[in-house]
Amino acid sequence: MRITFLLARRVPDVPSPVLQVVAALLTAAGHQVDGWIPEDRLLRADRFLPDADLYLLKSHTELALSLAGVLHHQGLPILNPYPACVRAQDKVTASQALRAAGVMAPETWLTGDLSLAAPLLEAGPVVVKPHRGHRGVGVHIVRSTAQLQSLPEPAEPVVVQRYVPGPGEDLKVYVAGDHVHAVRKRFSGDSFTRPGRPVPVTDAVRDLARRVRSAFGLELFGVDVIESPQGPIPVDVNYFPGYKGCEAGVAAQIATVIQEQVRHALGAEVGG
Ligand SMILES: Nc1ncnc2c1ncn2[C@@H]1O[C@H](COP(=O)(O)OP(=O)(O)O)[C@@H](O)[C@H]1O
Ligand SMILES: [Mg+2]
Repeated sequence: MRITFLLARRVPDVPSPVLQVVAALLTAAGHQVDGWIPEDRLLRADRFLPDADLYLLKSHTELALSLAGVLHHQGLPILNPYPACVRAQDKVTASQALRAAGVMAPETWLTGDLSLAAPLLEAGPVVVKPHRGHRGVGVHIVRSTAQLQSLPEPAEPVVVQRYVPGPGEDLKVYVAGDHVHAVRKRFSGDSFTRPGRPVPVTDAVRDLARRVRSAFGLELFGVDVIESPQGPIPVDVNYFPGYKGCEAGVAAQIATVIQEQVRHALGAEVGG
């Protein structure tokens, strides 16, 4: 089978070590593996001409997500499923899916006029974030009306989310099918370039991962969790994350999930 990674330009521009091992494992299993950056090609949008049997969406850019939509609507196999990716990428729909998953998740509001959020501050701080943001760009913790008023007029829709007090570090939960990993990492503007410290996965985190997996329909994903005194609280869900800092075995687990999808795609071809 031909397997193609739809990639994003990396910062810094070096290949992901985890992905390199995944690609090597897939190649060793007899697949042809390649990858390209959708932004670097002139692609037919009205009718995508497929050159692979399975596409792996490993980019969070708007262009890559749109392309994934084309593949999905043409009936081409793509992992994670496109509807699951869109649902996770959009923090409005993600908040609804988390609630539907029955997990403890922060209250989240949607508005085009941030001044309307002022009364929310009476109950404590909030976090303002772009509805389809990534890597923390445009995320602000707001504690006062003055601070709210000083925020620039949002160029895109924002969500306003209840701030969850925590230990000052994120728990980054990484999931590959049935396997759950967790690392602790302090969030900053460039923390996505650094691995976290692996920590044991508690039963509560495992349960959270299971619920998010089934509510979103994701197989390869990450959850940003605040470890609150009430338990693990998810604030962000990301499809196909970098798995930085996870133990080495994670690459084989990712490859297994992909191979299962390959078998599924083959079955669909034979069956249909
Ligand atoms: N509701 C919240 N309560 C406390 N901290 C939050 C909350 N939402 C986000 N954060 C912090 O801000 C960081 C970035 O926000 P996140 O929602 O993950 O946006 P992005 O999609 O840009 O990664 C998180 O990793 C977390 O540290
Ligand atoms: Mg995040």
